[in-house]
Amino acid sequence: MIPALPPAAGTPYRLAFVCLGNICRSPMAHVVLEEMVNRAGLAARVAISSAGTGDWHLGEPMDPRAAAQLVGSSYDPSAHRARQFGPEFCDQDLLLAMDHANLRDMRAMAPGLRKDQVRLFRDFDPLAEPDAEVPDPYAGGEKGFVEVLHVVERTCRSLVTALEAAL
Ligand code: 4NP
Repeated sequence: MIPALPPAAGTPYRLAFVCLGNICRSPMAHVVLEEMVNRAGLAARVAISSAGTGDWHLGEPMDPRAAAQLVGSSYDPSAHRARQFGPEFCDQDLLLAMDHANLRDMRAMAPGLRKDQVRLFRDFDPLAEPDAEVPDPYAGGEKGFVEVLHVVERTCRSLVTALEAAL
């Protein structure tokens, strides 16, 4: 379930995806969810962002292999620039981490995070086992990026359903 909505009605629901480098997994999820939220007519009610716990790629566009997968499925990756996660993300309604290491790092980098603010992204994947991660595709080949897009599309569809019910 999506955590309870903030009391201030009229403000968008703030959701951020977090991975390690913010050039592969979390920006893919960001672009896909944004597109699905637009199509669902929820664009004004959901504010989406993404960040990485690492600082190696700050300001860079998406990894070309991630961007190629998105373009191949008619998404537009061009606006993305990598950002780093930090305590300023404590104002988000929901933070979705791609793996357990991301979760641990986020709690260390932003000790003010509430427990119910942070979840694993694949908690919303209808086909995932409990505690499933999105495998890091960075050091592998194209196949890993194909798999990430499958997981991301399936999980984002279920996230949109949850958002539609909650908002
Ligand atoms: P991401 O993938 O966390 O899905 O963006 C990575 C990108 C870069 C690195 C590791 C993972 N890196 O070590 O630079």
